[in-house]
Amino acid sequence: MSFSSFQFQLQQLQVNCSALLAGERNYIANAANIASCVFHSLTDVNWVGFYFIDTSSSSKELVLGPFQGKPACIRIPFGKGVCGTVALTAQTIVVDDVHLFEGHIACDSDSNSEIVIPIIKNNVLIGVFDIDSPIKKRFSHEDVLLLEKIVYLYCEASEFS
Ligand code: SME
Repeated sequence: MSFSSFQFQLQQLQVNCSALLAGERNYIANAANIASCVFHSLTDVNWVGFYFIDTSSSSKELVLGPFQGKPACIRIPFGKGVCGTVALTAQTIVVDDVHLFEGHIACDSDSNSEIVIPIIKNNVLIGVFDIDSPIKKRFSHEDVLLLEKIVYLYCEASEFS
């Protein structure tokens, strides 16, 4: 694929996500449509979804939200796996080879690389957006920028209760 065609596809994904978010404030509904749009638009991804901080839990943990892909682990304590590490540090993590990430939680044995982006609104951590690929080193710098932009658009569009 040429560079310009790749850029066009990424831009198109952003436009499609913006259109899906327009006029809707419910964070679950928006997460469901963003997970579906990203899953069906990106090549070589096998799981796309959200984990949210479970405010009802006495221990700090994430709980599974809307996703596309195989069934996944439901609860992830802060500090565990890639998602729990992002919840702790509030920084995006790109894992080129999940088998080399100590403590990686293998929900789908097909996954070989992963990107996890924190969802932050008004300086408050809401959860994380997680994408898995069966291909090692799947996520480029351009992917990081695009997916962080999509998370930003999702946050701006949604109301978190
Ligand atoms: N691999 C993640 C767990 C979530 S699944 O990939 C859906 C992790 O290590 O946090």
